[in-house]
Amino acid sequence: DKGKHRHFMAKEIAEQPEVVGRTLAEYADFSERAARLPEQVKIDFAKLDRLTITACGTAYLAGLTAKYWFERYARLPTEVDIASEFRYREAPMPKNGAAIVISQSGETADTLAALRYCKSQGQETVALVNVPGSTIAREADAAIFTYAGPEIGVASTKAFTCQLTVLAALAVAAAKARGAITREQERELIGALIEAPRHMAEILKEEKHIADVAREVAHAQDVLYLGRGVNYPIALEGALKLKEISYIHAEGYAAGELKHGPIALIDENVPVIVIAPRDDLFDKTVSNMEEVAARGGKIVLLTDDEGLEAHGQRTFQRIRVPRAHSILSPLLYALPVQLLAYHAAVFMGTDVDQPRNLAKSVTVE
Ligand code: F6R
Repeated sequence: DKGKHRHFMAKEIAEQPEVVGRTLAEYADFSERAARLPEQVKIDFAKLDRLTITACGTAYLAGLTAKYWFERYARLPTEVDIASEFRYREAPMPKNGAAIVISQSGETADTLAALRYCKSQGQETVALVNVPGSTIAREADAAIFTYAGPEIGVASTKAFTCQLTVLAALAVAAAKARGAITREQERELIGALIEAPRHMAEILKEEKHIADVAREVAHAQDVLYLGRGVNYPIALEGALKLKEISYIHAEGYAAGELKHGPIALIDENVPVIVIAPRDDLFDKTVSNMEEVAARGGKIVLLTDDEGLEAHGQRTFQRIRVPRAHSILSPLLYALPVQLLAYHAAVFMGTDVDQPRNLAKSVTVE
């Protein structure tokens, strides 16, 4: 049932404040502001040498985001790969290693094969899935869940932000177990995560404006997305969403890679979506943005009030995102990129919930 929404995707985007809050409640103690590791997870984070994360598509991008969190907060070396590559490359895995596979459906063939490989290499395995009872959930040593509810739209939206929510809380739990953060820092990080639903609801109020921006973007043949650090995976996710539902060609790049090739594409016909909260990497990303502007590229800047004040003037379009702790950035910036893709697709008249050539669950390799 789509309720008042025109598409399942619109409904699922709108549900995010609620389902993210519900998911976080399973992985964090709100009154103590403490991370809660589900008891079925037997990973001894304090002794862990390396974490390996594998998944496909959008779930892989949740894993790529989590790498930044596990490395930064937990000081835990973390390797991330797409399952279709990982399963065949015969990666050596450490004795004290653990693996997380991420899958909305819990049925993706390549992800299942990656899980089996990790088990064969003696890794403690955890499956993060949205569908309880799915094959991947059953085969892993421990299954943990996103509480996104059924996701009908082929393009993953609420499952993605719920995956991010769980992974952020797990990274904080790992950080605590490894003695990499203090109790006070744990309170700060979990306290920040608790604010996610409120900020997400605020972003959803900007939908009309984002739809206007999307119509401008939809005239383009090619669109670039730039992000740095923990927001780089969101640039990739923005491009993936736009491609899969609007069929407009898009690519995501780490902002610093721009000058190593893709800048050759820039002219006045190419919108460049810049994901840049005013964090410690903001100035670096802005200098990449200025390289784009100097070549006539149309900048769509996604940032907070401080970022807008500093650099909002000289851009083609702007989308405001609430100012928040940097651990929250990927969770928050995911929403405007979803809405941009959604409204570009509606404008193009494509079949948003059932894009051509795509299936919700990919059970063949
Ligand atoms: C993109 C999308 C796909 C899936 C991928 C993995 O919007 O939905 O890229 O994320 O096929 O699917 P699951 O998570 O079911 O393993």
